Amino acid sequence: MEWDLFLEPYRQAVEELKVKFKGIRRQFELEGTHPAIEFVTGRVKPIPSILEKAEKKGLGMDRLDELYDIAGIRIMCQFVEDIYTVVDLIRMRNDFEIVEEKDYISHKKKSGYRSYHVIISYPVQTIHGEKRVLAEIQIRTLAMNFWATIEHSLNYKYNGEFPEDIQTRLKRAAEAAFQLDEEMSLIREEIRDAQKFFSTKKEK
Ligand code: GTP
Ligand code: MG
Repeated sequence: MEWDLFLEPYRQAVEELKVKFKGIRRQFELEGTHPAIEFVTGRVKPIPSILEKAEKKGLGMDRLDELYDIAGIRIMCQFVEDIYTVVDLIRMRNDFEIVEEKDYISHKKKSGYRSYHVIISYPVQTIHGEKRVLAEIQIRTLAMNFWATIEHSLNYKYNGEFPEDIQTRLKRAAEAAFQLDEEMSLIREEIRDAQKFFSTKKEK
């Protein structure tokens, strides 16, 4: 298996998508509006994880391109509302196609995991023409990201078999993260109202 050759379009896709989403953040800043995107990260799945997942899904080496998270982009937002703004921006674009959307916000996973996932088919321009790769965009608040990051490292430590007390704590932490997002959304409304009030007063 020529891994470098196989992974190159995925590396290219991740780099290009990072540039594009960082560009969106900058446009919000230049317009002086609240940036829907707080920050962006991206990664290409490590080879051992690719092999593990292919095995789990029963995909042979000739079907690795069916894995949709070899190229992964993560977009962090301050508020839950921003996530839907980002999803709308993604739907508007014509530089890639949406393959699937998974709303793990209104339908959180059993673990407590919340995020909005968009799988896209992204065209990479190569010296042999266009090559399309699948990429997974995860959009989440900072609170959702905090929870998912901690849960992921614990998952790694316990190999997915959490002791019951940790499981309970994680569920409680997920609930607390959800509450935090709700509170912040309310505060955001307050701030917006205050700004509206302030600008109408100024107009007089
Ligand atoms: P995998 O969960 O990756 O095997 O693929 P899937 O086909 O089940 O897709 P799903 O949408 O469930 O998950 C895709 C990705 O979302 C994962 O690779 C993780 O990055 C993230 N994710 C999903 N569930 C959890 C979870 O319970 N905890 C954490 N920390 N991340 C999750
Ligand atoms: Mg899963």
